Amino acid sequence: MEQFDWKNLPFGYIKTDFNIRCKFKDGKWGELEVSDSEYIDIHIAATGLHYGQEAFEGMKAYMGKDGKIRVFRWGENAKRLISSAEGVKMAPVPVELFKEAVFRAVYLNKRFVPPFGSGASLYIRPLLYGSGAEVGVKPASEYTFIVFVTPVGPYFKGGIKPVNMMICRDVDRAAPLGTGTFKVGGNYAASLRAIVKAKDEGYGSTIFLDAREKKYIDECGPANFFGIKDNCYITPKSESILNSITNMSLIEIAQSIGMKTERRRIPVEELSTFEEAGACGTAAVISPINKIVDPDVNKIYEYCKDGKPGAATLKLYNKLVGIQNGDVADEFGWMTEVE
Ligand code: PLP
Ligand code: COI
Repeated sequence: MEQFDWKNLPFGYIKTDFNIRCKFKDGKWGELEVSDSEYIDIHIAATGLHYGQEAFEGMKAYMGKDGKIRVFRWGENAKRLISSAEGVKMAPVPVELFKEAVFRAVYLNKRFVPPFGSGASLYIRPLLYGSGAEVGVKPASEYTFIVFVTPVGPYFKGGIKPVNMMICRDVDRAAPLGTGTFKVGGNYAASLRAIVKAKDEGYGSTIFLDAREKKYIDECGPANFFGIKDNCYITPKSESILNSITNMSLIEIAQSIGMKTERRRIPVEELSTFEEAGACGTAAVISPINKIVDPDVNKIYEYCKDGKPGAATLKLYNKLVGIQNGDVADEFGWMTEVE
């Protein structure tokens, strides 16, 4: 097999052996199919192409120190895909079907799970789209569910190396009563102008503010935001952000190590009071934030001394990654072994 440089894998696509597919037709889901093709045949009038009837998930499988492969909190991703499907009027994927497809995809590609200690993992991408043809704006009557996997390294270059972020005031990723809480492709399309601008200007990503008032922190490109002060983990409450499973987990981890936690609105000015800040998500894991630049109002908020993450961020990171790698006891019951 190909020899990968596991320690230097980018967050990108690498072909693996198999993917899993399933179709919804005549009001019901069919059988799972295994495919070795990277391509799909798609109707030219599929609603997924025209009207954004599409949702996806992002999750990971890890090789443990004990040589066992484990998936992190798959049940939460299954629930979120159901919520996203309902958000854009698609046929939801039943939890058991989701589980079977995900675990089969990992099992059939187990030679691609990066080794313990490499800092890389197997990214799992479940995808659901309207594959039935419609020309009027209405939900399709046919859907396709696919799960593919690909080995990945850290999303933000450098792993736990702090990143710089730029506040975005001229693009909204999602509206308060829009689709921001669903993991649908349209939100990512809407975020691209801001993300490309931030990258072009040398930042890791962009920080979106609430669309209604531009007063509060929403999220960090494809990750949630957190700030830390006075031994308290603080993360935004917002009606337009994705409810990150990593963030939910960090709240529990923070409490387990004696930190207080708050989920509430975070005014932009409060950035100056945080001792540490970070972005969190499946892809981002925890990416500590070095500085946040708000160019429109000429402000810079700095968090890292000598380019190093703060102590609380490191503690949270070590416990989260330790549980995922099977190196720290899974006291919350988050990991499911792939057998
Ligand atoms: N916010 C957005 C917009 C995302 O795309 C993601 C990634 O899934 C997250 C937050 C983090 O969510 P999770 O921790 O469930 O991966
Ligand atoms: C994830 O963290 O899984 C994401 O979906 C982020 C991004 C690659 C879309």
